[in-house]
Amino acid sequence: MPYPYQISSFADYEFQYSRSIQDPSAFWSEIAAHFTWCKHWDEVCNWNFTEPKVEWFKGAKLNITENCIDRHLAEKGEQPAIIWEPNNPEERTRIVTYNRLHKRVCQVAQMLKNNGVKKGDRVCIYMGMVPELAYAVLGCARIGAIHSVIFGGFSAQSIADRLDDAQATFIITCDGAYRGNKDIPLKSVIDDALIGNKTVKHVVVFTRTRTPVSMLKHRDLWWEDEMDHAETQIERDGVVSFPAEEMDAEDPLFILYTSGSTGKPKGVVHSIAGYMLWTTYTFVNVFQYTPGEVHFCTADIGWITGHSYIVYGPLCAGATSLMFEGIPTWPDAGRFWDIVDKHKVNILYTAPTAIRSLMGFGEEPLQGKDLSSLRILGTVGEPINEEAWHWYNEKIGKNNCPIVDTWWQTETGGVLISNMAGITPSKPGWATLPLPGVQPLLVDESGNEVMQKDEQGFFKGNLCIKAPWPSTIRTTYGDHERCRTNYFATYPNLYFTGDGALKDEQGNYRITGRVDDVLNVSGHRIGTAEVENAINMHAGVIESAVVGYPHDIKGQGIYAYIIYNHLHLDENLTRLDILQTVTRIIGAIAKPDKIQFVPGLPKTRSGKIMRRILRKIAEGDLSGLGDTSTLLDPAVVEEISKGKL
Ligand code: WTA
Repeated sequence: MPYPYQISSFADYEFQYSRSIQDPSAFWSEIAAHFTWCKHWDEVCNWNFTEPKVEWFKGAKLNITENCIDRHLAEKGEQPAIIWEPNNPEERTRIVTYNRLHKRVCQVAQMLKNNGVKKGDRVCIYMGMVPELAYAVLGCARIGAIHSVIFGGFSAQSIADRLDDAQATFIITCDGAYRGNKDIPLKSVIDDALIGNKTVKHVVVFTRTRTPVSMLKHRDLWWEDEMDHAETQIERDGVVSFPAEEMDAEDPLFILYTSGSTGKPKGVVHSIAGYMLWTTYTFVNVFQYTPGEVHFCTADIGWITGHSYIVYGPLCAGATSLMFEGIPTWPDAGRFWDIVDKHKVNILYTAPTAIRSLMGFGEEPLQGKDLSSLRILGTVGEPINEEAWHWYNEKIGKNNCPIVDTWWQTETGGVLISNMAGITPSKPGWATLPLPGVQPLLVDESGNEVMQKDEQGFFKGNLCIKAPWPSTIRTTYGDHERCRTNYFATYPNLYFTGDGALKDEQGNYRITGRVDDVLNVSGHRIGTAEVENAINMHAGVIESAVVGYPHDIKGQGIYAYIIYNHLHLDENLTRLDILQTVTRIIGAIAKPDKIQFVPGLPKTRSGKIMRRILRKIAEGDLSGLGDTSTLLDPAVVEEISKGKL
């Protein structure tokens, strides 16, 4: 096995799993010994889920970039760390070797230092999928600044809220970003986000699209100028160096905002050592990575999947990570397959929504594409339906590539439940078994472990985890109480995932979806409350309720029921206005797919909206409405049902 901690067989998995539970300290310190530390830890893990407090490798000192880059230089300096494929296939691919990555990251670190960014400062990164985004992330980590990457699809208002919440002092962005045939003016969105902002001192702008941008004196800087200047500072006699800041194991590495069932998105915080170990360990084991292979994770670095499986996990393992700027369907629906063919991709990791959408184009886009380099396929982000699973398996994997169905969350930092490619069996639609160190538990509403099987012979309940794994969420930035109430207070002494799951006799898990008011639209988490708040900001809206409904490609679509104050409205125009409002407040990703104007909403006598009923109507299941007689106004249900879109 190329990695000393790589699991080699099913028996080995069982052995490692039981060791990880029986003696976690010994188990994890052996694995940690294969990383680079400035100082070793005093204690492997110290935790309680009541505060909650989770600490791993307390007392240790390290810098994650030394693990992701420096330690590979002697042997792999000229090996590609990142292969970058541009949006437009006519443009040139860029190969970033480990040596080059080292230099660029040192330059970014120097640039940040030159502009007054210090350890612990929050740096917001709002860029397209260009290698400079990876340099920016790692440059922050090099000096110990906390990065907060914001996905390029979020609006100025969303960015403003996040900047404020994180009290960010520095922004790295691009003039624009290419996505398919679109050119998204990122810098101009940042300019809007900064109106009224009091904390940000500088904005560095990387030139990608050469869209005209406004550059404010004293505040805005060009990436190219700053990097050139930094280059002269970090290189002497051909030797590149910028000292990596010695960080505490438990110092925060990054903040990543994610939606929950209430309020504004929360800043999930991960700390350095635990996150490093977990992303590397899971990358190596789930994908059974072999050095030299090309790993293609199609996610955006604006989401956790990109953080963990484009940047940190693969680089820490010394792998070659393929980063793609564009989208799967442009210039045509064969784009992924062209990339696999061109770069001889060995591991492809994508979302079920992408598979479903590509499936819709049939086999024509696959014609003439050599996919024989593929060895392993993976999915993430949402449950995969069997039809999509089989298509992926047959048409892409040619029945010859294990598919890993990886279940995890922003809060878990890396994969918790998944089969391991070729090592533990796959089961279509099932994430299967927990990785070593992970102790799932299914509980009922009152928090008791589910002991009875349902009619189909499965245990069914809410998915919790009993004990911390190294990359457990540490806090929600600036509001630890929110972290406690969201994840650790529903059931005492358990981490609650917000997902429902089934378990079979063999201990395999199937994730059935969220049990809270969080939607999963094309693998992106969106809180219904957030969408409602955005809709309610529209001038004519009196009240709204948002639910999810099954959508063939997106997995879930967004269905909004809206009470509007003008009786004679131009419905279609008003719909467009409301969509525009949502785009302004959150971003285009949160736009409802369907908007139904309703005279009222079904409410209990105490005024609570009965979402269950609205969900049934949106799903078209009018027979499943149940007893509506206890509602404040039962007649409203019938009216809504009649107007269903
Ligand atoms: C869902 C993405 C079924 C789940 C890594 C979870 C999944 C949410 C799977 C987290 C899977 C993720 N099967 N559902 N393999 N993976 N989910 O934070 O509902 O963007 O709670 O992290 O996606 O989404 P997030």
